Amino acid sequence: MSKPKVFVTREIPEKGLAQVREFCDADIWPGELPPPREVLLERVKGVDGILSLLTSKIDAAVMDAAGPQLKVISNYAVGFDNIDIPEATRRGIPVGNTPGVLTDTTADFAFALLMAAARRVVEGDNYTRAGKWKTWGPKLLLGVDVHGATLGIVGFGRIGKAMAKRASGFNMRVLYYDPINQNDPDAPSLNARFTELDELYAESDFVSIHTPLTPETRHLISTEAFKKMKSTAVLINTARGPVVDNEALYHALKNGDIAYAALDVTEPEPIPADSPLLSLENIIITPHIASASRATRDKMAEMAAANLLAGLKGEPLPTCVNPEVYKR
Ligand code: DGY
Repeated sequence: MSKPKVFVTREIPEKGLAQVREFCDADIWPGELPPPREVLLERVKGVDGILSLLTSKIDAAVMDAAGPQLKVISNYAVGFDNIDIPEATRRGIPVGNTPGVLTDTTADFAFALLMAAARRVVEGDNYTRAGKWKTWGPKLLLGVDVHGATLGIVGFGRIGKAMAKRASGFNMRVLYYDPINQNDPDAPSLNARFTELDELYAESDFVSIHTPLTPETRHLISTEAFKKMKSTAVLINTARGPVVDNEALYHALKNGDIAYAALDVTEPEPIPADSPLLSLENIIITPHIASASRATRDKMAEMAAANLLAGLKGEPLPTCVNPEVYKR
């Protein structure tokens, strides 16, 4: 019997790729960069499954190009804003993602960014490398304390909660905002209290974003939001770049509406080399690596492969973002 045809939009760790190769006739895009749009549209023709990365937009045009036999789309990420989910659902195509396995790894990194910004770790390293370290200085690279500070978490899902857990180890006060989760049963054990956004902005020393990108959260962190934050506030974003309005962030950092930002995600990605944000010293920008530990990326690969293979066999995906497709 011939194997199902799949297109994999980039090489993922071998732990998952080996499975895909064994059970599928797999076309794996070998480039370091994502396939250009026209290549993607060409390579998906006639496939039964697509294993996508967040860097490839999978919309109606891609589904049309693939054809009516397309059975499954498996995303190598927990976020799925790169996929037109209503369109996939309309066509009865299940979409898989990789929740859970990257929660702690991502929260570790968000907390690392928080600490690096608070204690000016990146600036300190740059200072040393530039040969500027001449002596110990009482006022050299002063930062702010993390312990005892207030952390405001926007989006209290798995990663937001894992962030709260880390904060409790630093004796932080934790506030959270989540539009669909105002009485989260986990909040008391995490010492986290729900607040409306305005209060969270006004009270927090650190504001950390953990919300998915949706039409409601696009540019949620705007000029208006920055004006409500403390002038000493630090913004951390490990969720999705477009949740923050970059232009507003630039002015907020430049004018001192907030003190610092640490971003692992930007709009667009990669951030253009001439972005005004890169001219500022009170910002850290990393290249979307919050989930990038070897162990976690391997687990994500296994999960993405499991979703793909289940979909090809017509079985329910282990982690499906649009389970309504099974109710038809
Ligand atoms: C995701 O999974 O959505 C992250 O952004 C990358 O791991």
